[in-house]
Amino acid sequence: MDTPRLVSLDREHLIHPVSSWQGHEASGATILESGKGVWLTDSKGHRLLDGFSGLWCVNTGYGCESVIEAGRRQLEKLPYATGYFGFSNEPAIELAARLTQHAPGHLNHIYFALGGSDAVDSTLRFIRYYQHARGTPEKRHVIGLQKGYHGSSFVGAGLTALPVFHRDADVPLPWQHHIPSPDPYRHPAGPDAEAIIQASVQAFHDEIAKIGGPQHVAAFYCELVQGSGGVIIPPKGWATAMQAACRELDILFVVDEVITGFGRTGPLFACAHENIEPDMMTVAKGLTAGYAPMGGVFMSDTIYETIRDKTPPGVSVGHGQTYSAHPVSAAIGLAVLDLYEGGLLENGTRVGEHLATRLRGLGNHPLVGTTRSVGMLAGIELVTDKTTKTKPDAQLGISGKLSRYGYEQGILFRAFGDDVIGLAPPLCSTIAEMDQLCDGIVSVLDRVMEDPAVASALKA
Ligand SMILES: Cc1ncc(COP(=O)(O)O)c(C=O)c1O
Repeated sequence: MDTPRLVSLDREHLIHPVSSWQGHEASGATILESGKGVWLTDSKGHRLLDGFSGLWCVNTGYGCESVIEAGRRQLEKLPYATGYFGFSNEPAIELAARLTQHAPGHLNHIYFALGGSDAVDSTLRFIRYYQHARGTPEKRHVIGLQKGYHGSSFVGAGLTALPVFHRDADVPLPWQHHIPSPDPYRHPAGPDAEAIIQASVQAFHDEIAKIGGPQHVAAFYCELVQGSGGVIIPPKGWATAMQAACRELDILFVVDEVITGFGRTGPLFACAHENIEPDMMTVAKGLTAGYAPMGGVFMSDTIYETIRDKTPPGVSVGHGQTYSAHPVSAAIGLAVLDLYEGGLLENGTRVGEHLATRLRGLGNHPLVGTTRSVGMLAGIELVTDKTTKTKPDAQLGISGKLSRYGYEQGILFRAFGDDVIGLAPPLCSTIAEMDQLCDGIVSVLDRVMEDPAVASALKA
């Protein structure tokens, strides 16, 4: 591979997602060349232990023969089949049937989208159809969580509540609202679970009142672990309470499992932790383990049947994409599901317990304010003062240092801009690999502390 040529062409022609364009041009791309298991190799031959499964998606690890073979066979047999005009294809039908069997509650229908943003965007359209169909079109407002991430489609970016997705983008739209994140480390109500839950329910009621009452509110959206917001794990019972509040007010409860789905937190879906039964649920990422693009919207019987029955005969529900239910992605999804069912979830749970133990040990590090994890999903929040929970000054450039030192150390993790380290290792990881990842993180943190500016900020 001619790395300098590729870096130069990348700089000139390839626009990267959510990046500083100036910063990217200045630093140039790191070109990933191959992967096997939890290991990636870049074009310079540098090996990296991927502690983030690509972008929280390669849950199976790289180079899984059965997945590759399923994709190859489907490409040979039928590389594309439209879902329009009454056509369908075998892998998509089988995948829909198997997934809805596993899904919580009455989520017996699935629409296959192209990824997570697209799945979230589809829910917003389906919800409009549903509210019109049931005769409550004035129910048009939606409420999400601060620090929530629901992708970056135009409308989804407004449901997302991270500043970078709103800047100069004219979102949130007037019908999109957010209530505080149920963050046990930073919630004004303190760390007590019951206090946070009560505050969330109250904030939900207050927001609905501001909007003009539940007759104007269509849906509440949440992740069960707020991934891109910094791996924030709400207290146990929070999702149950929010679901109950929604039910009481005739507001749809929509769970975004794009990160948490497919074993990331242990079970196939994170809804299982509290037996949550959402009205709609979005998935992507682990659905195909990143081997091909695909997302999905699970839909309850009630929503499906209402739209079906109230749409006049012969009239189409006007939502669709060329690549919905793509047969190659679906064949890959089936092969990946075989792996989840064939022991991968159990391995993730077992290794996740070890990761949790290692992370608890990390809590003593001078830079670490708190650590949190569930299954193979974890966050390490850095502070310069453990008592006041002061975040490091942006001038210290800690997240850039973390990424650079991590690369040099041969480990990959997510260094969020607000100095949270995100971990989402492949579910196939071994205990030894998790030790290597955690040892590497300690070395990286120690190196960050060697910076005199960081050291003096810590003493302050
Ligand atoms: C919870 C959640 N929803 C939606 C998305 C958007 O998915 P995609 O990047 O596949 O469009 C993401 C991506 O990280 C996500 O974490």
